[in-house]
Amino acid sequence: MSEKEISKAVITRLPRYYRYLGELMEDGVERISSNELSIRMKVTASQIRQDLNNFGGFGQQGYGYNVKYLYAEIGKILGIDRQHNIVIIGAGNLGQAIANYANFEKRGFLIKGMFDINPRLIGLVVRGIEIRSVDDLEQFVKDNEVKIAALTIPKTKAPEIADRLVKAGIKAIWNFAHTDLSVPDDVVVENVHLSESLMRLSYRVCSMQDKNGEEKNNQF
Ligand code: NAI
Repeated sequence: MSEKEISKAVITRLPRYYRYLGELMEDGVERISSNELSIRMKVTASQIRQDLNNFGGFGQQGYGYNVKYLYAEIGKILGIDRQHNIVIIGAGNLGQAIANYANFEKRGFLIKGMFDINPRLIGLVVRGIEIRSVDDLEQFVKDNEVKIAALTIPKTKAPEIADRLVKAGIKAIWNFAHTDLSVPDDVVVENVHLSESLMRLSYRVCSMQDKNGEEKNNQF
């Protein structure tokens, strides 16, 4: 891999390459050209070549990419060639939905524990994962070498819990609470907001309808 820093835009696209390559592997495809990949992924072949050139030596002129090798290399870059221990804070609807999704484990994300303040939830087990009292959070994080925490609690509670997590040694927060968190420079936050994604969809569907409306109007 080259020493130069990979742009954020490229990193954002890597999980999608990873998913397509995984599917190609499942279909028994050993090699793929940037043109074929381009047709499948509906991005230009030059974009693919540019993106993958960042890592050097993936593609051989005329031979295409070695699917298995590329999949493994992108996995390494994304850090999913190793195990990441995760905790979920907030064992309500969303927290439990995440805990119930078994596929994260296939990517190396192991949900070690869930935490809540609701006594009616504490002690319950979701897909083998126990819901514990949030009082036990710091000790659990330390004992289980947890570096990633998912925050699925109300936004009013998120800053305080984020502070506690950082002090306990958490290095990454997967933030679903609708608030921007301030954390030290050595901690990363990935905000996930389904409603923002839905608003983008709304914009696109509305602008499409407006365009169709205009076209109809043009016919008058
Ligand atoms: P929920 O009410 O079902 O679950 C929240 C859980 O957090 C409850 O079990 C509650 O007891 C627990 N909790 C509250 N304070 C806590 C604390 N200090 N420590 C530990 N646990 C605590 O709500 P739901 O539907 O699961 O949503 C959770 C959060 O995620 C909400 O803030 C909601 O707005 C947000 N959300 C975000 C989405 C996104 O795309 N980012 C999508 C859906 C919900």
